[in-house]
Amino acid sequence: MKLVNKVAVVTGGGSGIGAEICRAFAREGALVAVTDMRREAAEQIAAEIRDAQGQAFSWGFDVSDHATVEDAVCKIEKQLGPLDIWVNNAGISRVVPFLDCSDDLWDLILNVNLKGTFIGCQVAVRRMLPRRRGVILNMSSQSGKVGNSHYAAYCASKFGVIGLTQSLAQEFAGDGIRVNALCPGVVFTPLWDEQTKDYARKRNIRPEDVRSYLEEKIPCGRLGTPEDVARTAVFLAGDDAAYITGQAINITGGAVMH
Ligand SMILES: NC(=O)c1ccc[n+]([C@@H]2O[C@H](COP(=O)([O-])OP(=O)(O)OC[C@H]3O[C@@H](n4cnc5c(N)ncnc54)[C@H](O)[C@@H]3O)[C@@H](O)[C@H]2O)c1
Repeated sequence: MKLVNKVAVVTGGGSGIGAEICRAFAREGALVAVTDMRREAAEQIAAEIRDAQGQAFSWGFDVSDHATVEDAVCKIEKQLGPLDIWVNNAGISRVVPFLDCSDDLWDLILNVNLKGTFIGCQVAVRRMLPRRRGVILNMSSQSGKVGNSHYAAYCASKFGVIGLTQSLAQEFAGDGIRVNALCPGVVFTPLWDEQTKDYARKRNIRPEDVRSYLEEKIPCGRLGTPEDVARTAVFLAGDDAAYITGQAINITGGAVMH
């Protein structure tokens, strides 16, 4: 096992990719804080992990509210011990033509995806510095590498996550803290339930054809899975990745190669 007794916090752990990262960390022996804005969803995943003999507890907080995150992390450390790993995974996406993107929608997406990651990083680094060790993983996307029509706010947030990741990796490498970003391609999670109709409208195809339309563009011939991303997260969180920091790793089946 690669993460035995490591204390790991995962945001947005109540669904999709985050939930799978929580399961994978727990299988590797980590003590997992499954956190989500939707506490019940987080608790469902934590309970599932405990049923499988893993160690997991749930907390509810909104990643874009600094005071609430700070309060939660104090309680997490009190219950589980000092932080080893922090995964900024919570995120939202909307498919909207640029000229229809309101200030409110821009703020919402940037607040959750980018400011939420900034807050998570700050809270985690403050606690990791005195111990001179720790790992931070930030969820970017292939949309953090390549721009995409109708995704201006989302792409801006995910490009921003990579800039933040590289900056912190530089600033804290000498303090034993590694910071990397994950860049998945398309993974059909509940996030896609929200945006499939709008994506179909953008491409002028039927919603039921979105999946095959996207699949055809991927060299490996299939969409990504939460497991594909979680396996990469386990690798980056563990000591096998001790010499890797400041990277933004594509998990896209070859769709993005830079
Ligand atoms: N699914 C994809 O195709 C894909 C591709 C690349 C990157 N990503 C990124 O992966 C991450 C996870 O996406 P997913 O597909 O699993 O989505 P999801 O919708 O299945 O899960 C996201 C979780 O985040 C939680 N959340 C949302 N806003 C929050 C907030 N303000 N505070 C705390 N929790 C909040 C939700 O309640 C939900 O449980 C996101 O950052 C997303 O941008 C997803």
